[in-house]
Amino acid sequence: MARRMKEKRSTASGLTLPRRLPRWLIVAVLTLTLLFLGATAAYSAYKSHRRRPPDQIHLAWLQNPATTMTVVWRTYRDDTPSVVEYRLQGATEWQQAVGTHLPSGTNGVLHDVTIEDLTPNTTYEYRVKGDYWNIWSNVATLRTAPLPNTGSFDVVYVADTGLVGRKDGLATGTQQIVDEIAKLNPLLVLAGGDYAYYDRDRRYKPLDQAIDVWFNQMMPIAHQSVMMPTFGNHEALLSENISLWAQRFATPEGFDDHRNYSFDVGNAHFVSIFAIYEQQGLPKATLKWIEDDIKAAKDSGKQWIIPFMHVSAFAEGASHPSNLALRAQLGPLFERTGVKLVLSSHDQAYERTYPLVDVPNAMTPTSTSKTCYTQNDGVTWIKTSPGGKKSNKSEAFSIFKNPTPPAWTAYRNNTMHVFTQLHVEPAGEVRVKTFGVKGDGSPPVVLDAFKYITGTCSSS
Ligand SMILES: [Fe+2]
Repeated sequence: MARRMKEKRSTASGLTLPRRLPRWLIVAVLTLTLLFLGATAAYSAYKSHRRRPPDQIHLAWLQNPATTMTVVWRTYRDDTPSVVEYRLQGATEWQQAVGTHLPSGTNGVLHDVTIEDLTPNTTYEYRVKGDYWNIWSNVATLRTAPLPNTGSFDVVYVADTGLVGRKDGLATGTQQIVDEIAKLNPLLVLAGGDYAYYDRDRRYKPLDQAIDVWFNQMMPIAHQSVMMPTFGNHEALLSENISLWAQRFATPEGFDDHRNYSFDVGNAHFVSIFAIYEQQGLPKATLKWIEDDIKAAKDSGKQWIIPFMHVSAFAEGASHPSNLALRAQLGPLFERTGVKLVLSSHDQAYERTYPLVDVPNAMTPTSTSKTCYTQNDGVTWIKTSPGGKKSNKSEAFSIFKNPTPPAWTAYRNNTMHVFTQLHVEPAGEVRVKTFGVKGDGSPPVVLDAFKYITGTCSSS
C-alpha cells in the first residue's frame, strides 16, 4: 500500500494519477499513433496518385506503321507495370502488351510499350496502366497505317507551338491550334520543333518540368495520332538540352543518334532532318545519309518522299531569313531524288514556293499554277509557322522584309497561326491544305490549298 501511495500524485484539481504510466500502455499508445500516422500518409499518397491519372500519353512508330504501335506515357509510381490493353474497336475482350520503364526526367517513370501483330489500316481501342491496382487511362483509339496503295490518310505538320499561357502574351494561338488538330484527328502529326521556348518562358523549372507540360499540352493530339518529331534551334541550342527532349520521344534510331530518321506510311516516306542553325548547313555525313535514305525509299517503290525539318531554306520574314547554305545543299539533292514537298518552320509566317528546279541558282518555277502540279514539276518548299507562339523578335508574326514577294513565292500570309495538312490518296495524289487560326476561337480558315498528282492537271 505504501508503494502504491508513492506512485500516485495529486493534480491541482485534486484528481489522483499514477506517478508513472504502465509500460504496456505507453507502448500501445505509441504503436497506435504510428499506425495512425502511417495509414494517414498512405491514404493521402493513394488519394493524390488517384487524382493523377497516367499522363503524357503519346503514340509513335518505331517499327512497321501498318502492324505495330508504340505507346508512351508517364505514371507517378515507379513500380507501376508497363501494360497497354487494346482491342479492335467495338470488341469486348482486351488483349495485353507489356513493355519497359524509361526515365521520366521528373517524377515517376515513362512507360514504353510496342503493340505488335496489328491489322493494317484498322482502328483499335486502348488504355494504359495507371498507378495502383485498378487505375487505367480513359479508353482512346489508335489507328494503324494502310499498306501501300490501299488507303488514304492525313498528316499534319505543326511547329513553333510554345506553352499555353505565356506571361508575355505571345502564345495567342497555342490552345486553339491543339484543339483544331485534335478535332481533325490525323493519322500522323509531324512536330516541327521549337516546343517550349524555355529561354523566355521559365514558369516551369527545370527544363524537364517544361517538357512535361508540353507533352501534356499535346496529349489531346498525341494520344490519338502518332506524333513524330524533328527538333528546332530551341531544343538544341537555346538554354535547352536536346538529349532531354529526345529521350521523351520514341523514334527510330536513324542517323546520328535519332537526330535524323525516316519511316514509311502507305506509299509515302517521311524523313526527319535535324536542321537547327540559322545560316549553317548540314554536315556532309548527314547529307549522304539523307540521299541514301531517299534513294532506298524510291527503290522500294515509295511514291512520295516528304522531308520535314525545322529551319527553312525559303523564308522572307525578318525574324529568321532563309538558310541559304541549307538551300544550296538540299535544293539539288531533293531535285535529283524526286522530292516534291518539303516542310519546315522557324520563321513565324506561312510561305509556300512554286515548284522549283535549279535551286539555288535560277530557281525556276516549273508551273505558274497555284493549285495543281504533276510528277514533272519541281520541289515545293513550305514554311508553316507559327503553330501558336508569335515571334519574340517582332512580338507578332514575322514581318516580311519586302512588300513584294520574291518570284518564287506562290502564296504567303503572316496574319495567323498555321498548320499544314497533307491528305495522301492511294491513287496517286497528295492534297495540301494550310489552315489559319486566329486563336480567338473563330473557325480555322483554309489559307492555301494545292495538290501534286501522278497524272495530268486539268486546264482548270
Ligand atoms: Fe526556331
